[in-house]
Amino acid sequence: MDFTWFKEQIKRNFCLDLSSYKEKQLKRRIDGLMEREKRKDYADYLHLLLNSREIYEKFLDTLTINVTEFFRDKVMFEFLENNILPSLIKNKNLKIWSAGCANGAEPYSVAILLEELTPGGGYQIKATDIDANILKTAMTGKYNMECLRNISPRRLARFFYLEGEHYYIKEQVKQKVFFKKHDLLKDTFGQNYSLIICRNVIIYFTSQAQNQLYFKFYHSLAPEGILFTGGSEIILNYAEKGFERMAPCFYKKSKP
Ligand SMILES: C[S@@+](CC[C@H](N)C(=O)[O-])C[C@H]1O[C@@H](n2cnc3c(N)ncnc32)[C@H](O)[C@@H]1O
Repeated sequence: MDFTWFKEQIKRNFCLDLSSYKEKQLKRRIDGLMEREKRKDYADYLHLLLNSREIYEKFLDTLTINVTEFFRDKVMFEFLENNILPSLIKNKNLKIWSAGCANGAEPYSVAILLEELTPGGGYQIKATDIDANILKTAMTGKYNMECLRNISPRRLARFFYLEGEHYYIKEQVKQKVFFKKHDLLKDTFGQNYSLIICRNVIIYFTSQAQNQLYFKFYHSLAPEGILFTGGSEIILNYAEKGFERMAPCFYKKSKP
């Protein structure tokens, strides 16, 4: 039973499409997990996954790599704050989607910027991830200092409260973000987003899956909507895909 067989079984049993993830990295991570669980081959490991929710969750955690923090890439968030959001907030129906949001640091960072620009404004941020466990953490809005290292003391005082050793996001920001489980590789996409933030997610996918996603993001964006990508997620041939490059990490849907 080889790795291709294993991927097929995962798709059949858990509806999880591993064929769109970059194979080398994925296999290395899964082989490492298998070794830790002392499983001799993929069939043995699959048997374990099918019989233990805990082991499956560990498998999903390894696969999804939830590393994130508030204002990850400070310079890019400054660009968002100064050059993108001021014109977007003129739109009364501002729809934003953070795809692959991990523990919520990303969508809450955007909500903080919007709260500063338009307190209590009429925007909503949808935040999605494939990993139900990380979404539970996101919904609690509870963070340690490491995740908050890019936050200024002024923002920390205004938008968080300290309880025990953890900081919690205040309700005014929390209520602007709603979380939902969503698999970018198989679920349908919403429409008419002014801003889609998908950062440090697509990097794990094959180039074919990446191109399909860019196509789907294009159709999900409102006219002249903006896609905010991760620093190393450079869209090749962006013009052919219907985008204009505004700055590193920022692509605008071209006029038809
Ligand atoms: C490295 S984190 C990036 C978090 C945040 N966007 C950032 O840049 O800090 C990658 C996230 O993508 C999610 N992810 C991986 N595959 C996914 C998929 N097929 N659909 C939706 N989310 C996925 C993971 O669960 C993880 O939370």
